Amino acid sequence: MRVAVFSTKAYDRRFLDEANAAGRHELVYLEPRLDAATAPAAAGCQAVCAFVNDQLDAGVLAALHGFGVRMAALRSAGFNHVDLAAAARLGIAVGRVPEYSPYAVAEHTVALVLTLNRKIHRAHARVREGNFALDGLLGFDLHGRTVGVVGTGKIGLAFCRIMRGFGCRVLAFDPSHDPVAASEGVAYVELPELLAHSDIVSLHCPLTPATHHLIDAAALRRMKHGAMLVNTSRGAVVDTRAVIQALKAGTLGSLGLDVYEEEADLFFRDLSGEVLRDDVFARLLTFPNVVITGHQAFFTEDALRAIARTTLANLDGFADHGRPVHPVSVERLA
Ligand code: NAI
Repeated sequence: MRVAVFSTKAYDRRFLDEANAAGRHELVYLEPRLDAATAPAAAGCQAVCAFVNDQLDAGVLAALHGFGVRMAALRSAGFNHVDLAAAARLGIAVGRVPEYSPYAVAEHTVALVLTLNRKIHRAHARVREGNFALDGLLGFDLHGRTVGVVGTGKIGLAFCRIMRGFGCRVLAFDPSHDPVAASEGVAYVELPELLAHSDIVSLHCPLTPATHHLIDAAALRRMKHGAMLVNTSRGAVVDTRAVIQALKAGTLGSLGLDVYEEEADLFFRDLSGEVLRDDVFARLLTFPNVVITGHQAFFTEDALRAIARTTLANLDGFADHGRPVHPVSVERLA
């Protein structure tokens, strides 16, 4: 099949070419993000291949359908950026990569936790300046602390296991309880209880209508004074403005983000020579107790290789049987 691959960087090409070594599909690499303006670039392609900030809303999907596109292969686990109902109506099959490396994301989450707790970002800058003072770098032992995990799917479970290894008590909230997690010492509780008792709250649920702004002003008020919040799931699970207020008030102790509500206009590009126009994001950058990475939790060789292989398998499945190997259907929205 001829496939328009949007939002591609050199690293995407490397792993997709490796997975497509037999040359079964003609991959047309496009740097721009998929949106209404760039959709015509898919003309003549049977499929598009999209990443997390590509826009697959009803309008874009209708345009793609008009250009002959019948499949969307997502290079991601998340599918909140796709109007699945519109795709179903148009007869566009959607495939995703349900699991590529939960370890990549879980390990990055731990990196954020350790950085915030031991102030590695500040220590690094200080030592380079010849400042070896320790004031302001005081952390706490993770051993014995309580970690609250929201969403114990593949990534959440991997994170729970690492934190159990540190000797933490792990509380979890998930509408569906995983007996494996429970057998490994993870205690399921309701969200208010998790928020009230956790020293660290880490988000690993998908972005759905039910989880949009799950962490809002009210949820932040329930959290322990001085607790740490880490979000490596999707930006809009957190109400960023409410979080800024909690940081200003000093009630939220620290914040680690790999995702941001309005990241589509920022992340995955070098904007270092440009004026930052997002005032909310700019405010976040002013806090010494906030560490932000630009949606890189997934970014390991192992994960990129697995993403490319599954993406090609989805394309093969659609070419052979009219169905990706890992389809996403409209029911998943519920
Ligand atoms: P998964 O589907 O294995 O697990 C998601 C879990 O969240 C499920 O157990 C589900 O029952 C639970 N859940 C659903 N609604 C919930 C709610 N209202 N409250 C609490 N839990 C809820 O997904 P996986 O692979 O663990 O990924 C989780 C999320 O991580 C993805 O949806 C994606 O948004 C994000 N992600 C971020 C990446 C990054 O680079 N920062 C990379 C990959 C995924």
